[in-house]
Amino acid sequence: MSQPIRIAVVGSGYVGLVAAVCFAEMGHDVICVDNDESKVEALRGGDTLIHEQHLPELLDRYRNNRVQITTDLAEATRTCQVIFIAVGTPQSETGDADLSYVEAVASEIARSINGYKVVVEKSTVPVYTNEWIRRVIERNGVRREDFDVVSNPEFLREGTAVEDFLHPDRIVIGADSDRAAALLSEVYAPLTSGSYYTHPSCVPGDCSDHHPPPALMTSTKSAEIIKHASNAFLALKISFINAVSNLCEAADANVEQVARGIGLDSRIGPKFLRPGIGYGGSCFPKDVAAFRSVAEQMGVDFNLLSEVEKINANQKKRFLAKVRSALWTLRGKRLAVLGLAFKGETDDIRESPAVDLVEMLLAEGSMVVAYDPAAMKRAATELPPSPQMRYATSVEDAARDADALLILTDWTEFGELDLQRLHDMLRYPIVIDGRNLYDPQTMLQHGFTYLSIGRPTATPSREARNPLPESTAVGA
Ligand code: UGA
Repeated sequence: MSQPIRIAVVGSGYVGLVAAVCFAEMGHDVICVDNDESKVEALRGGDTLIHEQHLPELLDRYRNNRVQITTDLAEATRTCQVIFIAVGTPQSETGDADLSYVEAVASEIARSINGYKVVVEKSTVPVYTNEWIRRVIERNGVRREDFDVVSNPEFLREGTAVEDFLHPDRIVIGADSDRAAALLSEVYAPLTSGSYYTHPSCVPGDCSDHHPPPALMTSTKSAEIIKHASNAFLALKISFINAVSNLCEAADANVEQVARGIGLDSRIGPKFLRPGIGYGGSCFPKDVAAFRSVAEQMGVDFNLLSEVEKINANQKKRFLAKVRSALWTLRGKRLAVLGLAFKGETDDIRESPAVDLVEMLLAEGSMVVAYDPAAMKRAATELPPSPQMRYATSVEDAARDADALLILTDWTEFGELDLQRLHDMLRYPIVIDGRNLYDPQTMLQHGFTYLSIGRPTATPSREARNPLPESTAVGA
């Protein structure tokens, strides 16, 4: 392989920590910097702090050797050639991204620059952030020829972060100088040349030495917009299929068939057309709002994004109405809830539609017994245990004697339940599935009343003869 590069990664959240261990996996020497002492201690001891496939093994392999973990940003800046900024960009009250952490890190880097450095923004940021970072570094007295600022957005998903990082669809390098572009190309050379994939122990995925990921060289501003536009477009796709699923419900059609029918058009594609209870997580809600706000500030009408947000918020209310339509009143009902994370295979509950829905159910007076394979500890901070809110030890524990079972997160194990056992355990065999994990016919054969998203309700014949409109349910 080419020469290892000394890389600093500032911020050890999802993007920073994954980038740090993956750069080490690619052969580079990495310093991972975080200003939270307790986090640094935990990482040094091998605790990843997040639930993520492959991350524990990689952290174990590289911590305290190829990945040094520290709070000392000044020293990291002095000893590294390339410094990635991967700190949080939370949503401010106005919907804009709050860039104060990025600014603070840029100033601190500036005070320690001792030779040519490339500062890379990897956090999701609005267009022009790059220019601001450059200005901040210059204001701190650094000569223009001693640094460049590059935008290298990250497209990894939680739950599959390591695989996404090492097997990306594309690598976007937004650089306005040839020198910086060349250095960043070198950083990613193990992937773009395909050499990484020839290692017998490489993390498996879609890329190979025959099909390495492409590197796309752009201007810094284009790279910044690519990141926001990608997330906004994916959110739009989800809201679109959710709106179509509502139409399917009204017309008694099946959204799964419709999604397949449109997804087979290669111009549309089959991915991100799964209807549900709305998108959540730390990225889509924040990034759609930030992109809308950037457009507004630049005088560009992008109301389409407000509609995306509106459909997303409405999707939760529609699900609540569905629960009412199956149970009539909610006060005092004992509801088994499967899933609290914002999606399967993660313990992240940030902006989780599942957590929002549990809050709505509690507000209606229901008793909730929730189970999630990984997110219960985090959820307990938002939804503290109480006589109304209990955390179960297993699916069975949640389901026993419940008036209905609600599926709110698409964990793989929730799609593989023993349906006979589940039927026997529930007080009433009613399943309301916000993630379409089951085939309605199969549920019917097992004797369930089964409501899902955008598909006809499956109801044992007695109820089917006398369906009640949703609007007759109390509180609808
Ligand atoms: C998302 C993007 O997919 C990543 O490419 C991006 O790098 C990341 O945000 C980021 O900016 O950091 P992530 O938030 O981990 O990744 O989760 P996704 O898998 O994209 O799911 C987001 C939400 O959409 C979840 O609530 C999920 O349940 C929902 N979703 C997804 C649907 O409702 N339907 C779908 O078809 C797909």
